[in-house]
Amino acid sequence: MTIGIIGAGNMGGAIARGIAAGGNIAVADITVTSPNRHGELDALKADFPDLCVATDNRQATGADVIIVAVKPWLLDEVMSEIADSIDFAQQILVSIVAGASLEHLAAFSKSTATPAVFRVIPNTAIAVGESMTFIASANATSEQVGCVTDIFSNLGKVMVVEERLMGAGTAIASCGIAYVMRYVRAATEAGVELGMRADDAKKAMLQTLIGAARLLEATGSNPEAEIDKVTTPGGLTIKGLNAMERYGFTTAVIEGLKASMK
Ligand SMILES: NC(=O)c1ccc[n+]([C@@H]2O[C@H](COP(=O)([O-])OP(=O)(O)OC[C@H]3O[C@@H](n4cnc5c(N)ncnc54)[C@H](OP(=O)(O)O)[C@@H]3O)[C@@H](O)[C@H]2O)c1
Repeated sequence: MTIGIIGAGNMGGAIARGIAAGGNIAVADITVTSPNRHGELDALKADFPDLCVATDNRQATGADVIIVAVKPWLLDEVMSEIADSIDFAQQILVSIVAGASLEHLAAFSKSTATPAVFRVIPNTAIAVGESMTFIASANATSEQVGCVTDIFSNLGKVMVVEERLMGAGTAIASCGIAYVMRYVRAATEAGVELGMRADDAKKAMLQTLIGAARLLEATGSNPEAEIDKVTTPGGLTIKGLNAMERYGFTTAVIEGLKASMK
């Protein structure tokens, strides 16, 4: 299978690196394009000499799977540049552009009225192979869904959803990574106020976060069941949780996620 990636920024670059390092696809079968040769294209070529890089987007359009990873306001310009070179009856178009609907993507097809098109929303942890990626598709066979799922499964965890859930997925996992970072920052600041060095507080917070995630994964528990195990009656944890709630913790999280859908 050959892969073309259009756009070599945070996302396009990380996807290219993840696929190239994954070993399932030959590095020589990956082409990455971006209008400027500087920066990530050169860095990708230095790290993966067999990878193909080009400044002409049409160099990526012969691939079996074409992944468009440009900023939202450039999508139409890039698609009108490459659409004529794509055989939508044979090739798969994947867009990671936030907010671009499947209907919008399908409308670029000239070769078939029912092109296989995918919307994929990863998060920035794709750079370390730990993305939470949501995938929705139109007109795709189960084999094509399997193919796109396999590509992104090598870059983290994947959830195939109906398109109507892509907004929620973006809020929870894509914007959500910033919310988790903000929690880590707040907890680190608290640790410093409590007398810890900032680096130590951050290290302790990260391991606590990893531990909490692994516990939930391993037990399949509801978070509240794990909280019950920590909250001794009259103890410190329940005092801390109740103080957080007095300052609106749960409401702040829910309202923040809902605001990211607007
Ligand atoms: N960041 C996230 O958390 C996240 C999560 C999910 C989805 N997304 C989506 O991913 C897309 C890319 O985001 P990003 O964070 O990777 O942006 P980015 O870092 O700005 O990367 C965009 C890349 O596109 C290149 N580019 C500009 N014009 C182009 C053209 N005409 N043809 C081909 N490439 C072109 C840019 O090159 P220059 O730098 O040389 O201009 C840059 O390398 C966005 O649509 C965003 O909605 C992002």
